[in-house]
Amino acid sequence: MPTVLITGANRGLGLEFVRQYAGAGWDVIATARQTSPDLEGTGARVLPLDMSSLEAVSGFSPGVEQLDLLIANAGTYGPREASSAAEGQEWLDTFAVNTVAPYLLAQAVLPQVRAAGGKLVAISTRMGSLADNGSGGFLAYRSSKTALNMAWTTLALANRDLACAMLHPGWVQTRMGGPGAPVTPEQSITGMRRVIEELTPQRSGAFLDYQGQTVPW
Ligand SMILES: NC(=O)c1ccc[n+]([C@@H]2O[C@H](COP(=O)([O-])OP(=O)(O)OC[C@H]3O[C@@H](n4cnc5c(N)ncnc54)[C@H](OP(=O)(O)O)[C@@H]3O)[C@@H](O)[C@H]2O)c1
Repeated sequence: MPTVLITGANRGLGLEFVRQYAGAGWDVIATARQTSPDLEGTGARVLPLDMSSLEAVSGFSPGVEQLDLLIANAGTYGPREASSAAEGQEWLDTFAVNTVAPYLLAQAVLPQVRAAGGKLVAISTRMGSLADNGSGGFLAYRSSKTALNMAWTTLALANRDLACAMLHPGWVQTRMGGPGAPVTPEQSITGMRRVIEELTPQRSGAFLDYQGQTVPW
């Protein structure tokens, strides 16, 4: 039975990842800074992990010898603009959760992923695409996800035997995406699972959407 580790699993896309992988028979390790009744109901093994605590992230142990898949899903918006030291600090805090913590977590579980010949997936966003930024705004979110993409491509180049990818889930109906989003969590996760299934080390470093289309940098 393959094993997957999913961060930010108490709600939203993380919870739907847990539901679908558990439903497909995977052994699911779900992390959250605070668990939820929905997550407890999935039967996944739930471990506490606050992605803003870099010490906790770099010291994290999945408690298994082999990990087939890491999905670094947890993410946060942060300030939309920054014009004060306080907002600058919030911007840095957003980088900790969206950029630095996923990279440190990948490093922490690399031995287990390598032992399984596994895959490292970061949930990014089209909003981190420089080429696609026609409207601006969301300063902390956009810039931290752009940096995540650079960190993850660097991770891919340093680990050429593994499959690494950044995925854009679509604009999805979650607390972050809002109720007016066109894509349901079920559709997004079904699509991303298919894309993840097809990842290979030869295609490592790709930035793909939930339908498998390449997203411009
Ligand atoms: N929804 C969209 O349209 C969309 C589009 C593109 C990309 N994404 C990306 O998809 C991922 C999941 O987003 P979502 O739509 O599911 O958003 P969501 O419903 O707001 O869920 C965000 C998740 O991240 C967790 N999280 C935030 N800060 C955390 C921290 N410090 N430590 C641990 N967990 C933390 C949240 O946990 P708490 O409950 O504890 O806050 C929650 O589980 C994010 O990386 C997001 O950037 C979403």
